[in-house]
Amino acid sequence: MNESLTQSVTESFGDCADARTKDVLTALVRHLHAFAREVNLTHDEWRRGIEFLTATGKKCDGIRQEFILLSDTLGLSIVLDDINRHHDDAATESSLLGPFWRDGVRESAFGANIAQSDGEPTFFHGVVRGVNGEAVEGALIEVWQTAPNGMYEGQDPEQPEGNLRGRFRTNARGAYAFHSIKPTSYPIPTDGPVGQMLVATGRHPMRPAHIHFRIDASGYDPLTTALYSADDPYVKSDAVFGVKPSLVIDYVPKDGGFEVARDFTLIAKERM
Ligand code: BEZ
Ligand code: FE
Repeated sequence: MNESLTQSVTESFGDCADARTKDVLTALVRHLHAFAREVNLTHDEWRRGIEFLTATGKKCDGIRQEFILLSDTLGLSIVLDDINRHHDDAATESSLLGPFWRDGVRESAFGANIAQSDGEPTFFHGVVRGVNGEAVEGALIEVWQTAPNGMYEGQDPEQPEGNLRGRFRTNARGAYAFHSIKPTSYPIPTDGPVGQMLVATGRHPMRPAHIHFRIDASGYDPLTTALYSADDPYVKSDAVFGVKPSLVIDYVPKDGGFEVARDFTLIAKERM
């Protein structure tokens, strides 16, 4: 095997003016060549790979991003999340934003109900703190989740505008509270090349039931995370690898529904 071919290609970036571009492309070529050698890639497989990536690109439009879905299902998105998070054991771990976050949701009052769908009533509440224990007042908390049919409001014309989405501000004690329903597991979109890849590899498309949180507070690193239901059958086999043990929660039965008490801990910007 001619290793000097790899060297010739990496050396071709020798005059690249931008050091970061040079480093990234050099490593990419090294790993691509090593990958092709490791699997003894045939011309036919190379062509099928190109066709797969072409189909992935053709599936993308202003709303659908099949390349991000590919990154998610290959675990790349969560690796990136790990590389780029500020490691602090006291802070709440992050998870994937996903494609269903939406801007423009109006703010609701402390304790409001965000559910206009029937489901198992759940009261979510907790406190947002910094890693030193200080309460974070005025933090913006955004939440979004699927309806019991497994669809987000933006995917389902039958759901009322803004259903199961909320925006709240923490009070002087750093507390937030809202009513909703218990989330349901749902499949990621399977009508494109990523779906074909899942079928070809014997994988299921399901994400375990979860509720997304985005928390933004002045002076703190923004947090994008999600809480996953411990009793969900897919909690150990998430199609996009977003589950972290610290984000798995119990829905505690209460008053004919459930209660989730969950605090979040943010990293102050000075510590970064
Ligand atoms: C989500 O949780 O909304 C999601 C994340 C990654 C891919 C598809 C959906
Ligand atoms: Fe989701």
